[in-house]
Amino acid sequence: MRTVHTIKELRAFVRSQRSRGKRIALVPTMGNLHEGHIALVHEASNLADVVITSIFVNPMQFGAHEDLDAYPRTLAEDQDKLQAAGNALLFAPTANEVYPHGLGDQTRVAVPNVSEGQCGASRPGHFEGVATVVTMLFNMVQPDVAVFGEKDFQQLAVIRKLTTDLCFPIDVIGVPTVREDSGLAKSSRNGYLSNDQRQQASALYRELKVAGESLAAGSDDFAHISERATAALAAAGFRPDYFNIVNSLTLKPASPGESELTILAAAFLGTTRLIDNLSVTR
Ligand code: PAF
Repeated sequence: MRTVHTIKELRAFVRSQRSRGKRIALVPTMGNLHEGHIALVHEASNLADVVITSIFVNPMQFGAHEDLDAYPRTLAEDQDKLQAAGNALLFAPTANEVYPHGLGDQTRVAVPNVSEGQCGASRPGHFEGVATVVTMLFNMVQPDVAVFGEKDFQQLAVIRKLTTDLCFPIDVIGVPTVREDSGLAKSSRNGYLSNDQRQQASALYRELKVAGESLAAGSDDFAHISERATAALAAAGFRPDYFNIVNSLTLKPASPGESELTILAAAFLGTTRLIDNLSVTR
């Protein structure tokens, strides 16, 4: 597997694959790869001849007091995992390669509505940073298909919308969340958790499932379900950020009687912010 750090080298690789008629998949990541990311690479391999994974800890999607500097950077281990997964090319640019004139001078992509609630409300500017870098990666690689994790449910909705709205001829594929045996969703940020916190962290998925069962049983008392889950998370040691029941497509607050629902949740354990979600069709 080759690793390249410049857009020029990336494009030369893409050109050579295209000239041989190869179908290309892109897996955008921020590195520190775990089984969840490797599942994306495997799905990408099923959908295309050649998989390109990007690793870029995108400064534009981090708030001023967030974990940009602390975010784990493990390039050598990531390269080994990608090689074993059959990835063809790793694109690992520097911030200067992606934003040569700095963030202040960078054209940005804002995706209305789906970006606005949940993580968009708690992390102002986050989805603009995600949408901008994903748009740039789409233009750099021009893949046939791009693969993302469903753990970041709102992010996936933002990316689907920008792909449609900006007329990218790219199939955007979501891959189900990979979980620990405890139910905890695999995440690079799990590395911030102490052993005790890791045990506590399984409460997040547990409460999603409890809430999901109420919805599947036909309850439309969304406020009560959210309040109960928020209290249970607080009792389990979390500082809940939000626990919202939304329409799975629009991400607007769910209305009684709706059949496609998603519960989106974010909560802090200590200083670590975890997110997870559960979809229910009823
Ligand atoms: O999900 C991530 O790792 C990032 O938000 C993404 C999509 C690679 C954009 O930086």
